[in-house]
Amino acid sequence: MEIKAIVDNVVKVKADAIIVNHFEGMEHPDGDTAAVDKALDGAISQLIKQGEIKGKLHEITLLHSLGKLPASRIVVTGLGKKPELSVNKVRGAVAETCRWLRHKGVASVATIAQGAGINDISLESAAQAVTEGALLGLYAFRRYITKKENDFGEIKQLLIAGSENQKLPLEQAIVRGRILAEAANWARDLVNEPANYMTPSQMAEAARQLAKSYGLKAEVLEREQMAEAGMGALLGVAQGSQQPPKFIVLSYKGSDSDEIDVALVGKGITFDSGGISIKPSEGMADMKGDMAGGAAVMAALSAIAQLKPKINVMAVVPATENLPSGSALKPGDILTAMSGKTIEVLNTDAEGRLILADALSYARKLDAKSIIDVATLTGACMVALGKICSGAFSNNQELVDKIIIAGNEAGEYIWQLPMYEEYREQLKSDVADIKNIGNRYGGAITAAKFLAEFVDDTPWVHLDIAGTSETDKEKGYLVKGATGVPVRTLVNLILSLVK
Ligand code: BES
Ligand code: ZN
Ligand code: ZN
Repeated sequence: MEIKAIVDNVVKVKADAIIVNHFEGMEHPDGDTAAVDKALDGAISQLIKQGEIKGKLHEITLLHSLGKLPASRIVVTGLGKKPELSVNKVRGAVAETCRWLRHKGVASVATIAQGAGINDISLESAAQAVTEGALLGLYAFRRYITKKENDFGEIKQLLIAGSENQKLPLEQAIVRGRILAEAANWARDLVNEPANYMTPSQMAEAARQLAKSYGLKAEVLEREQMAEAGMGALLGVAQGSQQPPKFIVLSYKGSDSDEIDVALVGKGITFDSGGISIKPSEGMADMKGDMAGGAAVMAALSAIAQLKPKINVMAVVPATENLPSGSALKPGDILTAMSGKTIEVLNTDAEGRLILADALSYARKLDAKSIIDVATLTGACMVALGKICSGAFSNNQELVDKIIIAGNEAGEYIWQLPMYEEYREQLKSDVADIKNIGNRYGGAITAAKFLAEFVDDTPWVHLDIAGTSETDKEKGYLVKGATGVPVRTLVNLILSLVK
C-alpha cells in the first residue's frame, strides 16, 4: 500500500473514501469533520442529532457524498471520549475503519493525522499511528489460500492530508510508521507460517534474507559449532528432532565502539509438542508459534537497521523443534549448559528455558552490556496476565522501567512480576545444579528465575509473551493469528536508549 502525505484540505481530496472522526458526547462536528459536514449540507450534524453517530470508539458510519465532495464516500469514525484519546486508540480506530473499507471494495482512502493536538498527541505521533494502524490492521496471512476470493479487496493508497508546513513532519512520521509496522508484519508472517514450512533452517534463511535486505550481519551456527561452544542445553532439546537446529545471530552496528550495547535474545522453538512430556493434542497446533520471540527480535533488528540509531544491537535466536522420538530428551536426563551449570530436566515441555540458557550464556560471552530476552515461555504467564499484557522480569529496575514505557508507547502492554529470592528455592535439584521446573505455583516467575541463573549480573529483562504473541480475535490493529508483539516495543526501546 502506498501511503503519502499531501498538502490539501481533506474535504477537497479525490479518493474513493475519506475518513473523518467524531468524539463521544460532542453535540457538533469539529475541525475537518465540520468542514465535511458543511459540504454535505449538515448531514453529519443531522446524524449526530438523531443519535446515529455517537462517536463511540470504533463506531463506523458511512455517508455518500452524491457529488457534493470530490470523494464519493465519507466515513465518520468514532474515537471515543476526547479526554481519553490516546495514540493507541487512533491506531486501532484507523485499522478497524480501513478493514471495513477494504471489505467495501474501496481502493483509495484519504484522511488526516487523526488525534493530532489532542491530549498532547503530536502531529508526528498521530500520523505515525494512522500509518501503523492502516498497515497492521490490513495485514492478512493468505499464502496458503489458493482460491483467491475476488471480494477480499485491497486498499492500494492512503493519503494523509495536512498543511504546507506539516508536509515534512507527516512524511517523516509515515516513514517511521511504515518501518515499524512492516517489521511487525514480517514477524507475524514468520509466526503464522506452519511448522512444516517454518523450520529452524527456514528461520535461518529468513534471517539471511533480512540481513541482505537491510545490511545486517548474519551468522548461523550449525550443530557442530553449538557442540564446540558447549551448548548442551540447546542440543538436548534438539536431539529429538530430524530438523537440524540453527543458532542465528544478527548484528547491527550503529556506533563506533566494538561493544554490544544490547543483545536481544528470542526463543525459536519452531514447534513445541512438549517432547516426551507431550502436550495434550487440543491446542497443540498453536505451538507452531513458539518461535514468536525469535521472530520478534529479528524483525526488531530489521527496523533498527533502517532507523540507524547510534548503538550496537545483536539478535540471538536458538532455533529448534521440540519433538518426542527415540533420540529425544527424557525426563530425568541431566544436561550441561554452555555456562557449565548442570540441569536436571524433569519436564521436557519446559524446553524454552533450556535453549535460552545457552543463548543467554552466548550473549554474556560476547560481553553484551544488557540483555533482553523474549519468549513464549509459560502458560502460567497467560494465566496470570491474560492475553493483554506481556510479563516482565528483571534484575535491573531502570532497564525494565524503560521497556514498560516503550511498550505503552507501542500499545503493547507490559506488566512487571516479582523476582524475590524465595522463588529460586523451587528450582533446587538433588542431583544437579538446578532443575528445569518448579512446583504448580508461580510458574512464570520460576521460569524467569531459571533464566536469571544464566545472566548473572548483566542488566537483563525477560519478556514472557505466551499470552500476547497471538490473538483469536480481530480487534483494532490486531487480526487473528500472530500479533507481532513486542517488535515495536523493542524498537522504541532501542531508540529511547540513544536519546
Ligand atoms: N511454549 C510453552 C508455553 C506456552 C503455553 C506458550 C501456551 C504459549 C501458549 C512452553 O514451552 C511450555 O510448554 N511451558 C510449560 C512449562 C511447564 C512444563 C513448567 C507450561 O507453561 O505449561
Ligand atoms: Zn514447552
Ligand atoms: Zn515452548
